Amino acid sequence: MPRLPQKTTVFACRKTNNLMWRRRMLERERVLRTGRLSMDHLRCIECGATYSVDEVIYQCRKCSGILEVVMDLEAVKERIGNGEWRSKSLGVWRYADFLPIKDRLKVVTLNEGGTGLHRCRRLGEKLGLKNLYVKFEGENPTGSFKDRGMTVGISKARELGVNSVVCASTGNTSASLAAYAAKAGMQCIVLLPAGKIALGKLGQAIAHGARIVQVKGNFDDALQMVFQLCERNKDIYLLNSINPFRIEGQKTLAFEVSEQLGVPPDCMVMPVGNAGNISAAWKGYSEFETLGLTKTKPRMIGIQAEGASPIVDAYRSRKQSINPVDAPETVATAIRIGNPVSWRKALNAIYNSGGYAETVTDQEILDAQRLMAQTEGIFAEPASSAPVASLKKLLEQKVIDPSETVVCVATGHGLKDVDIITRVFGKPVEVDANIEAIEKFLSRILEYDRLLQQPSPAPH
Ligand SMILES: Cc1ncc(COP(=O)(O)O)c(C=O)c1O
Ligand SMILES: [Zn+2]
Repeated sequence: MPRLPQKTTVFACRKTNNLMWRRRMLERERVLRTGRLSMDHLRCIECGATYSVDEVIYQCRKCSGILEVVMDLEAVKERIGNGEWRSKSLGVWRYADFLPIKDRLKVVTLNEGGTGLHRCRRLGEKLGLKNLYVKFEGENPTGSFKDRGMTVGISKARELGVNSVVCASTGNTSASLAAYAAKAGMQCIVLLPAGKIALGKLGQAIAHGARIVQVKGNFDDALQMVFQLCERNKDIYLLNSINPFRIEGQKTLAFEVSEQLGVPPDCMVMPVGNAGNISAAWKGYSEFETLGLTKTKPRMIGIQAEGASPIVDAYRSRKQSINPVDAPETVATAIRIGNPVSWRKALNAIYNSGGYAETVTDQEILDAQRLMAQTEGIFAEPASSAPVASLKKLLEQKVIDPSETVVCVATGHGLKDVDIITRVFGKPVEVDANIEAIEKFLSRILEYDRLLQQPSPAPH
């Protein structure tokens, strides 16, 4: 088990010099190899200030705005020109030419991405949609979409020569970071809101050897602590979705959906917490279009839980900024976030795509979780069920049309949070190991199922 450094200041100085030297070497190596300076850079989404992709920086030094990676799309075009990328199997690294990782030898992968885009006929019929798909991100190595961002984030960390990584998490980020840090041989620290993490996710972080700090507060408090930790200890690399390299990995979700369908869908419906993923998908669709690989982009529809909905609130009053929610509450722990870091990027995605934002109740989330599991065999966690939970309302409000191609992103696997299943739907009944008792029990429940399946009588 790796040990946390006791004297962080001494540790920081020695390692910082080391990092700066490595960065200079990397830059020299690249210029020699390519004959030109890479134009990939980081840009502040608020004031437009630019920074090098080889700087460790998470927020603009001028205005504290968050940063995005601006890819040199001309260079991407050159790289993809020979079409070689199309021969690679579906997954994040099929799109290596579209990503800002220069040293392919530094890539840390567990085979992320390449998740199924499931045509959901039965679910669609129940809801009144002809072309409904679920992109099941629970099929990723640690069971959530976070792996797409983490493989790129950790690979970047390796390029930078980093040894320690940290995140605050509602659970899935910590599970993913812990796994990728283990694979890379890095020290991993995670800050979690105490008592608010689904057991499956906590179990993953423990199993992968992360150093876990349970913070007495909510996710937003834990994230503030992580910012301060990284500010005071420059050698601990922050891998929350404010880190723009995470977003780069997550944009491959849009690439995959476009390729799996042949064209982008009409609508992309996604759960929104810290708001990184919807921003990432929009970036992906936009880049594919700019590169001439697609001709359209979907409307981006963000779904939040009723008790944690700062982005929906802003959208409803057509505002350009959010009012944070002080005490977010929802059964969908993964999106129990009141002050989303990437709110500006998410609002841009929703407004610029002609999209929409809506809330769902906890009951709607749990009903959708069961419906998806029982009509399509897709077992998603509560937060991941929020998009399906919203479809009825979106149809009623004519935000989507029954004939449109709609992709709901089921962001994480249901096994992450099994507690909720037995708590909400009850535990299976125990019966004696006696065939008569079992048949008696079965005949009762099978009759009940038959009654449920009978068409309801026509109204008089
Ligand atoms: C399962 C799941 N769905 C959705 C989200 C929300 O994603 P984002 O924070 O990028 O909006 C999260 C974030 O933790 C998650 O774990
Ligand atoms: Zn700025």
